[in-house]
Amino acid sequence: MSMDGLDVTACEQCPALCESRSRIVNGTGPADADLLFVGEAPGEHEDEQGEPFVGRSGDVLDAALRDAGIARDDVRITNCVRCRPPDNRDPHVEELANCRDYLDAEIERLDPSLVVTLGKVPSEHLLDRSIAVTNEAGDTFDARVGDTSCRVLVSVHPAATLYDRSQEETFETTIAQAADLAGVGEGETGQSRLGEF
Ligand code: URA
Repeated sequence: MSMDGLDVTACEQCPALCESRSRIVNGTGPADADLLFVGEAPGEHEDEQGEPFVGRSGDVLDAALRDAGIARDDVRITNCVRCRPPDNRDPHVEELANCRDYLDAEIERLDPSLVVTLGKVPSEHLLDRSIAVTNEAGDTFDARVGDTSCRVLVSVHPAATLYDRSQEETFETTIAQAADLAGVGEGETGQSRLGEF
């Protein structure tokens, strides 16, 4: 694995993605964050700037974090696949599989109290089953990660709120719930409430 700590510095496992990417987009945020957000794959802006969620989806995520009293700098944000797929298509199964060791290593290194999966692709990837995110948004599950496990909170993708306004409340409620469950954000006691669920 070509990985220096949390960052993948060189990877050529996916020929199509090596063609389409300008750079590898690694996760951002503290290496000991309590909360980890996992998206699908970088888009155009992320590919340009080398950071996850800096385009329109990022604006939606930032607003929800702010509303929930969470500082973006305090959380870690990453993607299932670290290279921008051509024409923003969904990552292929084998591309998700190729990038899986990097995601697992990041989760193992962080050992976050909660992983929030943003949308269908990361939710299905980590929970290893088919998921209707609009039905399961706000539900938590245990996911196997390497030799260990993590707690996952399913969320709709922030971009879903741009196409369907009715998803806005679902998204904001889920992010507020994430803050509460992980014991971060406004009114925080520093105490994770995960044990109560
Ligand atoms: N959408 C994602 O899933 N990830 C990003 O980094 C940006 C948009």
